[in-house]
Amino acid sequence: MEHKREYWFDLGLLTAIPVRGARTVQVPRRDIAVFRTANNEVFALENKCPHKGGPLSEGIVHGRKVACPLHNWVIDLESGHATGADHGCARSFPVKIENGRVFIDMGVAAAA
Ligand code: FES
Repeated sequence: MEHKREYWFDLGLLTAIPVRGARTVQVPRRDIAVFRTANNEVFALENKCPHKGGPLSEGIVHGRKVACPLHNWVIDLESGHATGADHGCARSFPVKIENGRVFIDMGVAAAA
């Protein structure tokens, strides 16, 4: 069985991410949007809407979803799937909070 390598990279304080907003992180192959919900949960999705590539980081977070700023598709932050009648999926990445700081699994985020 192949062992999955984890490499948790420190993205800084949770409080540096706007509530119900996001900040972006650039990794070698993609831009990632790291979202903070009103309940201080964090989620990370590729910063590219599954519709036409809109910047999800500029959308409004409501609950555990974000509305794309371009044509208002609503994307589930946990799965990256479009909701409602729309179909498509933004890739999601593992994130966690420890001692008020946000970490992303760079082993997954920077992989192909
Ligand atoms: S690009 Fe996101 S809804 Fe169209």
